[in-house]
Amino acid sequence: MLILGIESSCDETAASVSRDGREILSNVVLSQIDMHAIYGGVVPEIASRSHMEAIHGVVQQALGDAGVRLSDIDGIAVTYAPGLIGALLVGVNFAKGLAYATGKPLIPVHHIKGHIAANYIAFPELKPPFTCLVVSGGHSLIADVKTYQDMEILGSTRDDAAGEAFDKAGRVLGLPYPGGAAIDRLAREGNPKTYRLPKVKVDGAPWDFSFSGLKTAVVNTAHRAEQKGEAIDRAGLAASFCHAVAEELAPRAVDAALKSGHGILAAAGGVAANSFLREALERGCRKHGIRLYVPPIALCGDNGAMIACQGYYDMLSGLRAGTDLNAYPTLGIDEAPRI
Ligand code: KG4
Ligand code: ZN
Repeated sequence: MLILGIESSCDETAASVSRDGREILSNVVLSQIDMHAIYGGVVPEIASRSHMEAIHGVVQQALGDAGVRLSDIDGIAVTYAPGLIGALLVGVNFAKGLAYATGKPLIPVHHIKGHIAANYIAFPELKPPFTCLVVSGGHSLIADVKTYQDMEILGSTRDDAAGEAFDKAGRVLGLPYPGGAAIDRLAREGNPKTYRLPKVKVDGAPWDFSFSGLKTAVVNTAHRAEQKGEAIDRAGLAASFCHAVAEELAPRAVDAALKSGHGILAAAGGVAANSFLREALERGCRKHGIRLYVPPIALCGDNGAMIACQGYYDMLSGLRAGTDLNAYPTLGIDEAPRI
């Protein structure tokens, strides 16, 4: 079964054609990052307008790269929540138009479930149930993935998402937006023991985490050095920060995977590209005999293939939307689809 997946929830216009949920025939990602970088963050209005300009070409290219025509497609999957509302609406309306014109089924896909589904593309043997650590620019949570659709949140951030913390720390370190990948690179040259950063514990919620204290500590470290006229060890601060974030996330995710009894942990989302986090997850899973799945970096960030893949499983489950489908800026992975 061929699924066309369309993604426009933030600053990437993306489309992909996948076969049977596991095989990618094409995966086109047009990033708007250069346009937003000068403002130090995503400007929603610019994102929506850029999606409008790009979406037709991106979808055409995804069909062309896959060597298929629209008439060959069995279902049109689109991210409808969560994300920037104006950005989501571009993909949703484009997909609605395609579905209406062709009479093909329209499948509404949850963006975070899409991130989790990136693992199905990379690891053909992986099937629910398993535990998943989702760490993206807007979301950080540990999920019990019971089936391809049914998910429970075991723990989540009490404040910022991991990606937000990386982007803020990146700004303090003078790195361009988004700072995550650049901090990771800089951190490889530093010593993670250079700066002592706080460890956080949320009382009564062992799998919840928090990044605001860590973020503030990085800001204060940089400001204090500036006031004293001292130079900060940028690589050391980047390494200390990456190490602290990895130690905040990995032990909790490993513990949740152990206690949930699945014995399988997957990672998903843009921050899953972080090398310190990957190493910490590998160490923790090796120690406790848990099987770990971390998608290749190209599938961690936003892309259309993950939407096509989740869309395939959603279509099999009977999920469909009509031309009255709306987009939603927030929607939990544990909530019923809003169709
Ligand atoms: O999942 P994603 O592509 O978009 C959202 O759905 O939010 O995640 C983007 C986030 C950004 O905050 C970016 O800085 C972060 O992922 N990121 C990283 C790395 N690569 C991307 N954070 C830490 N280390 C990286 N290597
Ligand atoms: Zn995302």
